[in-house]
Amino acid sequence: MSFRLDGVGLVHPNGQRALQGLTLAAAAGERVAIIGPSGAGKTTLLRLLGAALSPSAGRIELLGVHPGQLGAGALKRLRARIGVVHQSPPIPPRLRVVTAVLAGRLGRWSTARALASLVYPVDIAGAREALARLDLADRLFDRCDRLSGGQLQRVGIARVLYQAPDLILADEPVSALDPALADAAVGQLVAQSEAAGATLVASLHAVDLALRWFPRIVGLRGGELVFDRPAPEVTSAMLHDLYAVEGAVLPTQVNDPAALERLTGRGGNGAASGGPGAIPGASGRTVPLPRPGCR
Ligand SMILES: Nc1ncnc2c1ncn2[C@@H]1O[C@H](COP(=O)(O)OP(=O)(O)OP(=O)(O)O)[C@@H](O)[C@H]1O
Ligand SMILES: [Mg+2]
Repeated sequence: MSFRLDGVGLVHPNGQRALQGLTLAAAAGERVAIIGPSGAGKTTLLRLLGAALSPSAGRIELLGVHPGQLGAGALKRLRARIGVVHQSPPIPPRLRVVTAVLAGRLGRWSTARALASLVYPVDIAGAREALARLDLADRLFDRCDRLSGGQLQRVGIARVLYQAPDLILADEPVSALDPALADAAVGQLVAQSEAAGATLVASLHAVDLALRWFPRIVGLRGGELVFDRPAPEVTSAMLHDLYAVEGAVLPTQVNDPAALERLTGRGGNGAASGGPGAIPGASGRTVPLPRPGCR
């Protein structure tokens, strides 16, 4: 089991309740997309899964341990096994791209190796390889404050690819990327998960992106679980109900309602026909989706 939440509630210090009664678990290697309207609790859930927050109620188990019971050293070791892709990566502006990527393994390196890497990057080839997967190899020695928001977001993804953690948590990881780059970047996270057997949990604003890449979809609203279903069973009606508070239009990566209807238009009972990563083709048969960027 990669993680298990049992009746978890989270009240922020200002009294704002962000999650309640959440029971959710994932096996090692599973890929789960978290979707839901703004304020649903997606970021809060990912911060709990990253051991950055402690639950106010319920129990949480991460990679076989209970984070609340760990001392400082064990907590550091746990966090080194978890990779977090932030929506806006917290990268110091003057840092070089190569150093930002290598920071992915700081938690696993000895103090001497970590300090040495600050003076001179210890694994330039490894950083270049991770950046190449995001089409950024040529920016290796640039300063991070010379990058665009989308490039910086891809550096954050490259850092987690380089880290190669057991649990990858990605909070709106491609929100600053255009549709083609977003697809390729999510493809790389999925490829990493597949190659390393790592669990991948991503909150995604774009419902179509979630349905295309993730076999399992969790819908959150108002801090509560609305549904937890295999992607092929998620229907248009379930999505419209989840996002009802945001109006009639579902948030999608590509502004093409017909494409979303194709992804969810699997009949009234939502019966799956193509399995994860497949959409009904023009002929009515299911066709595998292209997976740009996948190795
Ligand atoms: N640090 C915080 N202090 C107080 N309240 C918070 C904090 N972070 C989030 N909240 C509140 O918790 C609830 C859930 O917020 P969260 O950021 O988890 O939602 P979200 O689903 O990620 O939304 P979005 O799609 O806008 O990113 C919201 O009501 C929010 O106002
Ligand atoms: Mg959020």
